[in-house]
Amino acid sequence: MQLFENHNLKTYNTFEMEVFARQFLQMEAADEIPTVINDYLKREPYYILGGGSNTLFTKDFDGVVAHPVFGGIEVMERSRDNVLLRVAAGEPWDNLIQYCIRHEYFGIENLTAIPGLVGSAPVQNIGAYGVEVKDTIYKVEGFRISTSEPFELMNAECQFAYRNSIFKQALKNDCIITYVWFQLSIKEHFTLTYQGLANAMAERELPMKLRYVSDCVRKIRDAKLPDPKVVGNGGSFFKNPVISAEEYEELKCQYPDLIAYDAPDGQKKLSAGQLIEKAGWKGKRMGNAGTWKNQALVLVNYGGATPKEVLDVAETIIKDVKNLFGITLEMEINRI
Ligand code: EPU
Repeated sequence: MQLFENHNLKTYNTFEMEVFARQFLQMEAADEIPTVINDYLKREPYYILGGGSNTLFTKDFDGVVAHPVFGGIEVMERSRDNVLLRVAAGEPWDNLIQYCIRHEYFGIENLTAIPGLVGSAPVQNIGAYGVEVKDTIYKVEGFRISTSEPFELMNAECQFAYRNSIFKQALKNDCIITYVWFQLSIKEHFTLTYQGLANAMAERELPMKLRYVSDCVRKIRDAKLPDPKVVGNGGSFFKNPVISAEEYEELKCQYPDLIAYDAPDGQKKLSAGQLIEKAGWKGKRMGNAGTWKNQALVLVNYGGATPKEVLDVAETIIKDVKNLFGITLEMEINRI
């Protein structure tokens, strides 16, 4: 492991907030984690930071930020239909996508180009274009911080839901994920339920190949979402709100074009981006922060934004959407 004092986190969070961690601990192997826990995390405030693509640092962190950098992808088992991969937490997510395309493993291609590290993927159950990572996770390995003991949770034990899991609930702040196991198909299998993806494949008259589906996803993302390497952002800032079918019907009388998708238990999931746009917030800016011109759900740092400027935009959006629709948007991003 490597320890840095008073470490600038600007390049460790895609929002590019210039904040400092009193200590920054780079974890270079899974087997050093019990030492990391006992010697550091048990003694002071801590935060486990993956790729920093879903974190908004709101101030300097007076404690230790622990960041995994150990990567690697291993084939554990191969059957007639499936392959079982064990992937280390510090592996960049998109490296795993490239690996799967090269080896023709099907299942996560719709999650192409999501920023961040593999270890963070189960925490918020990353999802895009009709696929959630829970559909391919076999199990998750890690350490509990309270006991320093290793754990293994099978998919069903991870309590996956829309942008949610046990790692954001009962195990929040009490675990370090070390490895994620994925069960992927070696038989050709695509998910084209997201209309925009099906249309993009059809328009370009591309043969159904893993690489082309992945390319199409990348193009859709490029058109809608700002590249965090160019414009600081943390992806979707809010969750899409889930409301009852009755509430949706009422709102629809007033806003006939209101988009909704079916959610569990007969509920409806609205598009937060559409609500924010209707509240007049698409591509709008307040100081150095604002929303993205092609996707109002994404808050951006237009350059030199402070955490307060980002939070001011977020809070104004919450207020405006509440006034217009009576719906309270919930932040998806982790605020630290
Ligand atoms: N829409 C608007 N205005 C906007 C943005 C969206 O009217 O400013 C409409 C779109 O036209 C579309 C609908 O809202 O009809 C849904 O938009 P989109 O397909 O872009 O998806 P989303 O619901 O806004 C979610 C995820 C994204 C993921 C996309 C694609 C959440 C919080 N976000 O966004 O995930 O890429 O679906 O599947 O669920 C992320 O989590 O960081 C993220 C980017």
